[in-house]
Order: sequence, then C-alpha cells, then structure tokens
Amino acid sequence: MNIVILAAGQGKRMKTTLPKVLHPVAGTSMLGHVLTAVGHIAESALPCVVVGHGSEQVQDYLSKNYPNVRTAVQSEQKGTGHAVFQASPFLSSDATTMILYGDVPLTQATTLHKMKQLASDGGLVVLTQLMENPTGYGRIERNLNGEVIGIVEEKDASPSQREIKEINTGMMACDTADLKRWLGLLQPNNAQGEYYLTDIIAFAAKEGVPIRTTQAQYDWEVQGVNSRAQLAALEREYQVFLAGNLLDNGVTLADPARIDIRGNFNCASDVTIDVGCVFEGNVEIAAGVKIGPYCVIKNATIGKGTQIHAYTHIEDATVANDAVIGPYARLRPGAQIAEQAHIGNFVEVKNSQIGVGSKANHLSYIGDAVVGSGVNIGAGTITCNYDGVNKYQTIIEDGAFIGSDTQLVAPVRVGKGATLGAGTTLTQDAPPDQLTISRTKQISLVWKRPEKIKK
Ligand code: UD1
Ligand code: CA
Repeated sequence: MNIVILAAGQGKRMKTTLPKVLHPVAGTSMLGHVLTAVGHIAESALPCVVVGHGSEQVQDYLSKNYPNVRTAVQSEQKGTGHAVFQASPFLSSDATTMILYGDVPLTQATTLHKMKQLASDGGLVVLTQLMENPTGYGRIERNLNGEVIGIVEEKDASPSQREIKEINTGMMACDTADLKRWLGLLQPNNAQGEYYLTDIIAFAAKEGVPIRTTQAQYDWEVQGVNSRAQLAALEREYQVFLAGNLLDNGVTLADPARIDIRGNFNCASDVTIDVGCVFEGNVEIAAGVKIGPYCVIKNATIGKGTQIHAYTHIEDATVANDAVIGPYARLRPGAQIAEQAHIGNFVEVKNSQIGVGSKANHLSYIGDAVVGSGVNIGAGTITCNYDGVNKYQTIIEDGAFIGSDTQLVAPVRVGKGATLGAGTTLTQDAPPDQLTISRTKQISLVWKRPEKIKK
C-alpha cells in the first residue's frame, strides 16, 4: 500500500516557527503519531510525506527519526489535491493509496486498518465522522439512497449543506491509477481557489466507482489541530483516554484528570498514582507500586511494591522491588537501586548502583559509585567523582557505614564493614572493619566574643 501524509500547510493560526506537524501531542510530534500508526498497519510501506512550510525542519526530523520515510516537496500550497499530486511519482500504480494528514495526529491503527480492509475490496474509502458540531469540516453529501456523491467544503456549502453532520476527516484510500487520473481533473474553481482533494469523490461517484465510508471509534481520532487551543484540547482529551485505560487495567489514580503520559507507559494493576505525575518515554511500573504527587518519571523501570514519594524525579534509571524513594529524590541516568534500598530527600544518584537494603536518606550526591548491600550513607555525603576533567569511581563495600558530611574523593574504596567518621574527607582507601576518620583534633579555647563598638 502507498501512504501519503499531507504536511505542507503553514499552520498560520499556531503562530509558531516550529512546523505545525512537529508540535507534540502526548510527548510525540503529530507527524510521529501518524507514522507510528502507519507502521502498525503497513510495515513494508514507505510512506511519503508531502512537505512545504518549514520543509527543512520536517525533513531533518524525518531523517533523524524515520529514515525510511520519503518526502515530496510542495513549494506552493495550492490545496490538498495539489499536495497529493506532488507525491504521485512515489506512488506505484498497482497498489492502493491511503491519504492521511500530518495535523490529524491520533487516528488509531485499528481505524486505519478498517480503511485498509475496506479498500482491499476496491472502490474509494472515506473516513467520515458524525459530529455534533461539524463547523469547519467538509460535509459528506449523499443521495436519497444514502450513497456518497460528493464532499462540499464549509466555505462552499449552502446553508442546508451546512446542516449536514457527517464530516470528511480528510483520510481516504483508493486505487492509485484512479487517484492519479482524478488528480489530473481537479480545477481550482471554488471559494478558496485551491485544488481540493475532496473533489475526487464526485468524480468517483460519476464514474460509478463504489464509495464506502467508515468511522473512527473516538472523535479525537479524527480531530485536526489548527491552533494552540485545539492542540491543548486534543492533548487533554487523549490524556483522559489514556487515564481511562489505566483505570480499566486496575490502576488507582487520585484524579484521572491530573496525570500526563508522554510515551509508552506500561503500568501493572494495583499501582496507585497521586496527582500531577508525568511519565515520559518508556516507563514500566510493577504491581503494588505507590507513587506520590508531582513525580516526574522518564525511561525507568520500577519494581513491585516500591514507594516513590512526592516530588521525586527519575530518569533513565531502574528501581527494584520494595524500595523507598523520595520525597524530593533525584535518580539520574544510570542509577540502579536494588531491593529494599532507601533514597531519601535531596539525594541525587547518578550512574551508580545502590545495593540491597542500603540507605542514603538525606542530602547526598552519589555519582559513579558502586555501593554494596546494607550500607548506610549519612546525611551530606558526597562522592567527589569529577576533577574537572575526568570522572572516577567510588566503591563502598557491603555493610559500610559512612558518617555524615563525608567526602569520598574518587577513585577510592571503602572496605567491607568499614566505618567513616563524620566529616571525613577520604582520599585513600578505607580498610574493612576499621574506623577511618580525617579531622583535626577538637580543641577548646577560653575567649571572649567581640562586642559591638559604641560610637
Ligand atoms: C480539509 C478537507 C476537509 C476536511 C478537513 C479535515 C480539503 C479540500 N478539505 O480541510 O474536507 O473536513 O481537511 O481536517 O481537502 N495541506 C498541504 N498542502 C496544501 C494544503 C493543505 O499539504 O496545499 C495539508 C495541510 O498541511 C494539512 C492538510 O493538508 O495537513 C489539510 O489541509 P487544511 O488546509 O488544514 O484543510 P482543511 O481546510 O482543514
Ligand atoms: Ca485542517
């Protein structure tokens, strides 16, 4: 199957320098959503994206993210029919062509699949939708037998045609040879002076080509984005849908209206999520996890029964079962937290392993470290991993106790069962089972506090 995605329009009402189709919905560009859905229905197809406004940015985005996608340039935007025409050299005539819109991002693969199935019987397939408020859309005209005979654009419609509630989503599929022939017949004799793709419906009807329609399950699947307000509204509608899926799968949400999912969120049942949480990228949450309010979790795996308290940020990290993280913890890329470990408030962990049952509960930086099991890291501990040029590793073996306000100047090792006195600046390895301490001896002097000078 040939796939054409129209994305040359300017998106004037967005008032943006970023091409409209690159604006994200649920963390993925609108164009990315369309290409993802296409990938589900036609793995072998090489979609052709028609670019125009901001074509360099769109092409750049595509070459980085979808290197197999081809582009056709429409340098002047003379209408949707003209846009499809630019893609014709890429369309092999012995296959069906499906036309999609880069600014209608959320059409689900199941809907595209229905269109594909219908199109395989020949004829022309149009995705339509019954809308309570059809304003702005092209309307589907049918004859008394209910057969589709044409599409009339809002701007060209008579008052009675504007009453029609069945709208054209813009998406269609048909035989490619027919399509090419019909495109050649288009004339810009309408209110907008454009070559309307929608005029091919009337050509098909006149030629007796069967025209079939199908609908999407949800209205948001066919909603286009022309303004920031529509973008925000679509985002929210989609988030409500995603939240509904979570509820259906046995996840407790303190408020389904206050969660944002921007990526692939795989959440087991009996997970509880408080308000204001944001999940980005690939996130996997195992059963029984509790997540407090306002956590941001990106590309992470959280094990069974773990508790993540309020305001915790996790990125590119893994947390095993029954751990306790936060409030106000920050797990940065490469943090691996083992079972039953505790990472508390204002503790930052980067590129480090924290062993089973180990605890760093307050105000610490642990970077490029391997921490064994049963280790206690006191408040204010810092691994000095960076000399301004290179990074070095700190190793803390099982059962060590790190006193508060300790600096571990890497590379350095703390042996098994070692204890570091509070305030130690460790520059050499600490032997196992001993107390290591680096402090000047405490002294006390008799003295007088200065007094305020009288003038
Ligand atoms: C179009 C349909 C309308 C339908 C609506 C659904 C036509 C004539 N009208 O109207 O029936 O109800 O979509 O959302 O097709 N584009 C180009 N090149 C152009 C013009 C448009 O690539 O020269 C692209 C735009 O970037 C956009 C899509 O085609 O992705 C639709 O164009 P737009 O101008 O938004 O069409 P509508 O007026 O919304
Ligand atoms: Ca539009």
